[in-house]
Amino acid sequence: MMPEAPRILLLGATGQVGFELWRCLQATGPVLATARQPLPGVRVLDLTDADAVEALLADYRPQIIANAAAWTAVDAAEETPEACWRLNARLPEQLARWGAEHHALLLHYSTDYVFDGRARQPLDEARSTAPLGVYGQSKRAGEVAIQQAGCPSLIFRTAWVYASRGHNFLLTMLRLARERDQLSVVDDQIGSPTWARLIAQVSAQALQQWLAAGADPDDPRLGLWHLTASGQTSWHGFATALLEQAQALGLIERLPDIQPIPSSAFPTPAQRPAWSVLDNRAIQRAFGCHLPDWQHGMQLCLQELAERGPTR
Ligand SMILES: NC(=O)c1ccc[n+]([C@@H]2O[C@H](COP(=O)([O-])OP(=O)(O)OC[C@H]3O[C@@H](n4cnc5c(N)ncnc54)[C@H](OP(=O)(O)O)[C@@H]3O)[C@@H](O)[C@H]2O)c1
Repeated sequence: MMPEAPRILLLGATGQVGFELWRCLQATGPVLATARQPLPGVRVLDLTDADAVEALLADYRPQIIANAAAWTAVDAAEETPEACWRLNARLPEQLARWGAEHHALLLHYSTDYVFDGRARQPLDEARSTAPLGVYGQSKRAGEVAIQQAGCPSLIFRTAWVYASRGHNFLLTMLRLARERDQLSVVDDQIGSPTWARLIAQVSAQALQQWLAAGADPDDPRLGLWHLTASGQTSWHGFATALLEQAQALGLIERLPDIQPIPSSAFPTPAQRPAWSVLDNRAIQRAFGCHLPDWQHGMQLCLQELAERGPTR
């Protein structure tokens, strides 16, 4: 049985999801946030240093470990697979083993890139995985390692993540739209753009429900879930929708010409799944949460950028 306000260790507080999670978890318990670089209120921790991770776990003795850190550079992973596996597979394994030994819950994130993109119906949690590249393989290995360690865990597979800060497609499109008259955007990859804040809010809600129900390590709501916004689009569809909205909000002066192109016209070191829409109905039933269409989060995120003004 966990105390009412469990100690939470947050890894990756500077990431898109981690930053949002940092805020959302405050209501659940005291949060020790870690990041690679020194920042106010943050403990510096290089997560490739397994001994340093172990020392922090032993010192802080978290009751909840929220791992929002990952190697997310999908193309670079093909060049430096070892570094990617360290963050995406061996770190979660280490955290899960510690959690199993010390009865701590591990909150962790995975990806739609565990699938090969051949499906044409939303993929549920029971669907077989077949990652196409190093990033997806390493993330799948992280999921399996957590499941095998046997600690209480919530693993949320998400997709196409963006936020009003960090490195993401939405911010890249806004920058390019200010610089160019014409953009070419891939229209043959289909997924569900998901706002980092939605992921963080649902994560915190799920955690709170688990705690309120007695923090039972055998609670059937623990396990792996698909957590994305609803609906689907292509990168071209996402770019068009977000830039139209951005223009309406005054974030860009004029709409560039947005040309649809096939993935073959934009070769990348890593192959991406052509179709990776996740079926998000199970998590909504299990936790009674609502996952709105992708346009909803996009509008809120752009609104936030517009309110933030020229410092963006
Ligand atoms: N981004 C997506 O489109 C996407 C899609 C599906 C699933 N996901 C999953 O969702 C989760 C969150 O992704 P995200 O988009 O929020 O990732 P992100 O913005 O790239 O953030 C990753 C975080 O990991 C930290 N990190 C990486 N290497 C580190 C190291 N050696 N030591 C300490 N910290 C390190 C980063 O620190 P720095 O800020 O110092 O780099 C950053 O805080 C991940 O599990 C990811 O696999 C993401």
